[in-house]
Amino acid sequence: MKKRVLSLLLTASLAFPALAQKEYVPVPENVQARKEFQDNKFGIFLHYGIYSMLADGEWAMHNKNLNYKEYAKLAGGFYPSKFNAAEWVAAIKASGAKYICFTTRHHDGFSMFDSKYTDYNVVKATPFKRDIVKELADECHKQGIKIHFYYSHIDWYRNDYYPLGRTGHGTGRTTHGEWKTYYQFMNNQLTELLTNYGPVGAIWFDGWWDQDQNPGFDWQLPEQYAMIHKLQPACLVGNNHHQTPFPGEDIQIFERDLPGENNAGLSGQEVSPLPLETCETMNGMWGYKITDQDYKSTKTLIHYLVKAAGMNANLLMNIGPQPNGELPAISVERLKEMGEWMKIYSETIYGTRGGIVPPHDWGVTTQKSNKLYVHILNLQDKGLFLPITDQKIKKAVMFTDKTPVKFTQDKQGVVLKLAEVPTDIDYVIELDL
Ligand code: GLC
Repeated sequence: MKKRVLSLLLTASLAFPALAQKEYVPVPENVQARKEFQDNKFGIFLHYGIYSMLADGEWAMHNKNLNYKEYAKLAGGFYPSKFNAAEWVAAIKASGAKYICFTTRHHDGFSMFDSKYTDYNVVKATPFKRDIVKELADECHKQGIKIHFYYSHIDWYRNDYYPLGRTGHGTGRTTHGEWKTYYQFMNNQLTELLTNYGPVGAIWFDGWWDQDQNPGFDWQLPEQYAMIHKLQPACLVGNNHHQTPFPGEDIQIFERDLPGENNAGLSGQEVSPLPLETCETMNGMWGYKITDQDYKSTKTLIHYLVKAAGMNANLLMNIGPQPNGELPAISVERLKEMGEWMKIYSETIYGTRGGIVPPHDWGVTTQKSNKLYVHILNLQDKGLFLPITDQKIKKAVMFTDKTPVKFTQDKQGVVLKLAEVPTDIDYVIELDL
């Protein structure tokens, strides 16, 4: 009997190598990639697909109950004549961002890359016939910026994404295939993405929450994660499930909230020791939305980046490219202005971790070894109290021109005496500990 159990276990672990993933220990390349990811601090998210033509965000198919056969006809008209990967990457690099996360396949089920496993893809189903993911990945590698792949677990098009979750009921599918073939399909596509596009910085999953009303549902994530780590050990696995991380994940993702905050309603989960990333939109929508021109100001965007860094997290800031393949001009302008700020201040962002002084209403601190950067974002006074009790401040200077900043330190903490009430987007003081 014992023998039988043992052999069953053995068979199971061969069929599902990922059983071991339960006790997931990242390999050294992965640990190094996590560190680099944290050092990089800033990425740009791109939501681009055939939904961009409807100009009403990436959820249009679900929101408007569009029939999957009718929706698929969009592909026949997809010809983003101005798409130029080199221009996208250059504009994004100019912002100081160090990675791009691109929607290889969103919930609508359309693949933005060439795939052997479905013809419903950008090369086989559109007159454009170009592998957008390939062009983008090649260009990222050429220009020295990392590429991450967003991949949806949900599919509103295929009938084997079944049982249905809480979305996509109105897309007209009447027959239902089997989850088994869908799961295999995803793993085949993930294999393509991790084999044909060079080094991939991360796979960014989304849609787990779709099945939260089917409590018995098993996404079979450990096996999928193990497969990814086997194909590219340094590839980070993240899942936008709005939960504390599951075994096999390398980063923790927050949507529209900084770690520990929950203003948007999707967060509030415990903050794990994994590298953290918060994603947010530059206007109000992920995919292109023609009626949404409400772009955040450069100041607000810089504040997000700085606050994320102060909370020990990366910022993944989203842009929805236009139907013609261009990034909206206003987003390019924002990228440029962020880049101008980064040219001066990036030392206080890249390679830092959240500082010893926790985030406060006035701002945050970031830290790199003995340098503590005090980012004052909002202060009405000419003085600032920092509750630093266990470390001695050796020196305080303005970050930009290194002019000395007066300060006093006693048992309760440090008081910085500023030359003026701060009005800069981010008034940075550099402390030597
Ligand atoms: C949500 C949405 C999705 C978007 C993602 C980005 O999960 O479903 O459309 O891609 O957030 O964070």
